[in-house]
Amino acid sequence: MSQVKSFHYKNISVNYSEVGKGSTLLFLHGFLENHSLWDEITAYFASKYRIITVDLLGHGDTGCIGYIHTMEDQADMVYALISHLRLRKINIIGHSMGGYVALAFAELYPDHVKSLTLINSTSRADNEERKINRDRAMDIVKKNAPTFVRMATQNLFDEDTHQRIPEKIAQFTQEALRTPLQGILASLAGMKIRIDREALLHFGPYPKLILAGEKDTIMSLEEIKEETQDTEALLETLPCGHVAPLEVADLVIAKLKSFLKAL
Ligand code: MLT
Repeated sequence: MSQVKSFHYKNISVNYSEVGKGSTLLFLHGFLENHSLWDEITAYFASKYRIITVDLLGHGDTGCIGYIHTMEDQADMVYALISHLRLRKINIIGHSMGGYVALAFAELYPDHVKSLTLINSTSRADNEERKINRDRAMDIVKKNAPTFVRMATQNLFDEDTHQRIPEKIAQFTQEALRTPLQGILASLAGMKIRIDREALLHFGPYPKLILAGEKDTIMSLEEIKEETQDTEALLETLPCGHVAPLEVADLVIAKLKSFLKAL
């Protein structure tokens, strides 16, 4: 059973959980998510690894430090957490926005990275169209955040997935609705200005695993194939949409397990 704890960082409380012993796996959730995204996956790995999950800035029970949370702000907070826990090298695993944070962490703190896993994520920056969509999203959020959250979460899953795992999606939506207004806006603004980190897929001196969803409507599989081409990153595709850790937790476990075993 993981223990939920907190530590003090820049005048806020950061919520994280810790369980198990061994080499460290640190899991970073995506936008509108929190550390509970990983419950099924971390339960599996807890007998062999030290598992850390954290609520990113402005998500779950972690406070906000500003009106823009850049990926670098998030990465600095993650570094403060691993320093607090006296950890040196970590296997870092990020879902979507958590992947952007993992990449920022890998760029800023390369000596602390043992391996890097991106799930339903990309190393590329927002293109112009996505930037415009971020502005639109911010306008909607300012008018009615719960409506935005409900719409955003429902649209992540296709009809089959809604039929297959309705309880999981309902729980996921409830968790998303806990995200504070400032946290939502700060992440949208932070994601909009994030930089391209494709070079890390080529030159990052650690093993890299990319898990992509065949039906992901947020991260196109074609683009992910393109960005991982000619890199040393191992690309695996999964029969799911944008939230692999929820939709196909067993497959995420299997892929991660064989990747970690080979390290
Ligand atoms: C996420 O799931 O973290 C977001 O959809 C990522 C994004 O909007 O770029």
